[in-house]
Amino acid sequence: MTPSLSGAALPAGHPHFHFQDGALYAEGVPLQLLAERLGTPLYVYSRAALQAAWASYRDAIGSRDILVCYGMKANSNLAVLKEFARLGAGFDIVSGGELQRVLAVGGDPAKIVFSGVGKQAWEIRQALDAGVKCFNVESEAELHLLSDVAVSIGKQANVSLRVNPDVDAGAHPYISTGLKENKFGIAIADALRVYQSAGALPGLRLTGVDCHIGSQITEVAPYLDALDKLLALIDTLKASDIEIEHLDLGGGLGIRYTDETPLAPATLLDQVYARLQARGLDHLKLILEPGRSMVGNAGVLLTTVQFLKHAEARNFAIVDAAMNDLLRPTLYDAWHGVLPVSPRDGVPLEYDVVGPVCESGDWLAKGRALAIERGDVLAVESAGAYGMVMASNYNTRPRAAEVMVDGAQYHVIRQRETVTDLLRGESTLP
Ligand code: LLP
Repeated sequence: MTPSLSGAALPAGHPHFHFQDGALYAEGVPLQLLAERLGTPLYVYSRAALQAAWASYRDAIGSRDILVCYGMKANSNLAVLKEFARLGAGFDIVSGGELQRVLAVGGDPAKIVFSGVGKQAWEIRQALDAGVKCFNVESEAELHLLSDVAVSIGKQANVSLRVNPDVDAGAHPYISTGLKENKFGIAIADALRVYQSAGALPGLRLTGVDCHIGSQITEVAPYLDALDKLLALIDTLKASDIEIEHLDLGGGLGIRYTDETPLAPATLLDQVYARLQARGLDHLKLILEPGRSMVGNAGVLLTTVQFLKHAEARNFAIVDAAMNDLLRPTLYDAWHGVLPVSPRDGVPLEYDVVGPVCESGDWLAKGRALAIERGDVLAVESAGAYGMVMASNYNTRPRAAEVMVDGAQYHVIRQRETVTDLLRGESTLP
């Protein structure tokens, strides 16, 4: 990327990040300026990009009865949640902590679905008190706990069983969840029996069927395979007098990291509805739980080149962000684009972009052609999803700050952590 590409959008397809006069901007704000004022590593999000992602679902939905529950594990900063709550989103939560975040921004509890394989009694109780829409239940043991907790506080819990349709979503094994060997869900062959036993528990009301087959899915076929299995199950349930009200297809829509062609929400929904109509089941309410596709390309991670190191076998750009800030490259072998925010002329060299953490696995990108010097600021693309939320304090590294750009304005939405923050709560023996 050179200054002559002024006006070009980024390769990863971030529509709200672009080059202007040789500098990379988020909406109306130069990223170099943010790095200088706020320091790096720094997560930068675009509010307009969040709104555009929401609109891609809203426009695809039209007048159909579909609830979008943002899979907030992808990015749970309060400012992000507030934006989606304001736009009318529901939320897919997986912990009591996530519930508290939604309540803190005034999200509507009646639009919350509670997923996850290991819900604890205190989390269930808080969710029942808040009045969440539904629990997506993943095991028989969980059904019993849920019923017991509900009865103990005089309530009934709405339940959807997360069934495992045994389809291959074609993603990295760590983010593929719909196969038999995964820990997730109830085998579809057992589902009727489990629904029947759930129906006998006093604290439960059976309202839905749920699945989530994986993440970063770019084809419609795995969704339709899963849908067919779920629709067959719904027919079987009906024949046993179990009438459900909603169908939850989970999240999983992929984004463009490099050259993927993501599946548009409209394509998915049109094909799903064609099948629902063909089976006479389009009266069911549909729930979606998109995470990555709502935020992934709404954010970049800024990092500064500390040193360039020309070793015998490779060139290293040692930057101030590390695996503790963005775990995806080393955990999933994930590809994130890397661009200088103020590109300079010069002959590019091939660099591994690595962090200061004491692990060979501490890398952000490998073999990238970059014309860079010490002190240059780089943008790591597509970092809005599963970036900051997966950050840790390994090597006693304070976590990055987060900032939201809104037109020509920007707002710090999370202060940079300090070492004092990290030491708080620890103590030595007397
Ligand atoms: N619903 C459930 C039940 C989920 O488990 C997930 C993600 C979602 C919805 C949202 O899926 P999405 O639309 O974001 O694909 N850390 C990994 C991704 C893990 C996804 C976990 N479950 C990564 O960085 O690629």
